[in-house]
Amino acid sequence: MQSIFAHRGVSSLAIENSEQAIQLCAQYGLKAVEVDVQLLADNTAVIFHDADFKRLAQIDRQLKTLTLQELDAITLKMPHKDNQSVLTLSELIDIIKRLDLVVNIELKRFGQSCDAYVQNIVQPLIKELPINKLLFSSFDFELLEAIRAYCTHSKIAVLSDHFDEQVLAFIQKISAQACHLKDAILNIEDIKNFKAHGFFVGAFTVNDNKRYQQLMQAGVDYVFSDVPHLLSME
Ligand code: G3P
Ligand code: MG
Repeated sequence: MQSIFAHRGVSSLAIENSEQAIQLCAQYGLKAVEVDVQLLADNTAVIFHDADFKRLAQIDRQLKTLTLQELDAITLKMPHKDNQSVLTLSELIDIIKRLDLVVNIELKRFGQSCDAYVQNIVQPLIKELPINKLLFSSFDFELLEAIRAYCTHSKIAVLSDHFDEQVLAFIQKISAQACHLKDAILNIEDIKNFKAHGFFVGAFTVNDNKRYQQLMQAGVDYVFSDVPHLLSME
């Protein structure tokens, strides 16, 4: 298991979830990347975090209302970063294969059906990438259940900004391999308790090296970071 996932690629240096952000993983010798995936109106799967383009292209449009042809006209722009375009899932798969990365696919659903996500995101990924290099995650429990029903052997992580009996029961119900928890709720004392349940624990988003070292020493298995190239145990 890698100890650092580049969160949306090396997102401090390039526009998040873009080809350039993912390519930087190879440049810095990073082995694992997290990306966000969602569906367009025509069910094309694309790599994008937000529901709309306000933050990353200064355009007031919902992504789920666009076709791929309409998306092609949109350029992602951020101060001090190179312009990028939105990657499709099939472009992502090619990049992941070329760079030989472990990939965490975080699924973001905005009202579409679980079936559409399984068919257009989960199915092609399972077909194209080795199962041991592919980890699905989501805050969306209904969708995680649908992924588990579709594939009994895929690796799944439950995302949560809190941890309680309900989250634990859900992890057990779907036989998830991991729980990815918000760093702010991770109490060093509690990490041992989480680990005692027998799943991997990941922490997001960790951009401070001292905190990274503290979490790893406390038993966290891996972190998600916007500055993965700056984290080290030394
Ligand atoms: O997958 C960890 C983290 O990415 C979850 O939150 O909003 O950054 O996608 P978010
Ligand atoms: Mg994410």
